[in-house]
Amino acid sequence: MTCEEDLFCGIKSAKSEDMTDLEKKHTPVIDAPETVKAGESFEVTVEVGKLMAHPNEEGHHFQWIELWHGDTFIFRYDLTPVFSEPKIVAEIKLTHPHDEFELRALARCNLHGVWEGRKKIRVE
Ligand SMILES: [Fe+2]
Repeated sequence: MTCEEDLFCGIKSAKSEDMTDLEKKHTPVIDAPETVKAGESFEVTVEVGKLMAHPNEEGHHFQWIELWHGDTFIFRYDLTPVFSEPKIVAEIKLTHPHDEFELRALARCNLHGVWEGRKKIRVE
């Protein structure tokens, strides 16, 4: 088995815009403004299972969701199946003007590994 075939090897992401069901169920979707001002807070939403429903039960669920801006860590939420939905709404701020980095959301499914979704954001 290659790393690409092993769901727990590395970080998985959609291979193209024509996503498989596995990719739709696991790719985090980031909702945030296209452009923000440095140092001003804004709302960001990260959700998994938005493109296609994913189970949220003891045997199969998302364990955590993280948000990064490039390689800068922003937040991590730990989740419990049934009690917490894999949807995070948070106020964040980015402090340095940039247009080269993306927001990167990571989410870990207990059966299908770590998945990444990205969104371009310009910080003025
Ligand atoms: Fe899963």
